[in-house]
Amino acid sequence: MTQRITSIVTGGGSGLGFATATQLVQAGYHVTLFDLNEEAGQNAVDVLGRENASFTKVNVTSDASVESAVQAIIDDGIVIRLGVNCAGVAPAKRILDRDGNAAPLDSFKQVIDINLVGTFNVCRILAQAMTKNEPFGEAKERGLLINTASVAGYEGQIGQTAYAASKGGIIGLCLPMARDLAPLGIRVNTIAPGVMGTPMLLAMPDKVQDALVHNVQFPKRLGLPEEFGKLVLHMLDNAYLNGETIRLDGALRMPPK
Ligand SMILES: NC(=O)c1ccc[n+]([C@@H]2O[C@H](COP(=O)([O-])OP(=O)(O)OC[C@H]3O[C@@H](n4cnc5c(N)ncnc54)[C@H](O)[C@@H]3O)[C@@H](O)[C@H]2O)c1
Repeated sequence: MTQRITSIVTGGGSGLGFATATQLVQAGYHVTLFDLNEEAGQNAVDVLGRENASFTKVNVTSDASVESAVQAIIDDGIVIRLGVNCAGVAPAKRILDRDGNAAPLDSFKQVIDINLVGTFNVCRILAQAMTKNEPFGEAKERGLLINTASVAGYEGQIGQTAYAASKGGIIGLCLPMARDLAPLGIRVNTIAPGVMGTPMLLAMPDKVQDALVHNVQFPKRLGLPEEFGKLVLHMLDNAYLNGETIRLDGALRMPPK
């Protein structure tokens, strides 16, 4: 009997997650989308094709939600070799508002919870599942985890303390997680995108998009979501790439605002 294999993509209902799922399906992989947005997830599966993709409503911040979604896949006899974390949020809030009032602590905690804790939560549960995999490929690996940071993890802009801290945390955990999992043959990499043309950004007025592109060096445009997906495919293909964060940003360095 042939083994059934899938790749988990969190945030797969939209933007970079959906672009990643699309690239994976085009390359012949089956994907399972985890997203909080049920409508977006179901629509994504319709586009990708039911034979290529499935969707589970998952909240990445919840241990029970991710554990039960992964367990259901394992119970179906399906092997998970790849996990790509794209679920995330990017609200902006200055530490003090215009009147000098301190930002509510809960808004900071919420961003850390979704972007950083959610990423770790999915990684820990997928890593445990991957330890059961038969080693595959020339490197005899058991799996690959890819997390999404941001250039804001290096140079966060005004209003991005929470977002930049969450993305800096994702960059920080990449190497120790790769070290933790190396004896098991599981790799961990991170992509730090610059300004990418996802629905969120393309919905902004042209003036705002132009301002975002201003500091991109070359090519002078928003990054294409499929360029993110292509880097995921390369990370999958290149077993020597491990414990690394790669900026995908057209040599952009963010100014303060
Ligand atoms: N678009 C950019 O320019 C850009 C740049 C740098 C980094 N990023 C990062 O890339 C990732 C994807 O961004 P995008 O532009 O595709 O955003 P997006 O809003 O299009 O997609 C994010 C997806 O995550 C899902 N999500 C949010 N919270 C969730 C939760 N708790 N559990 C499960 N799913 C949840 C949303 O429903 C949505 O489908 C984010 O982590 C973002 O910070 C994006």
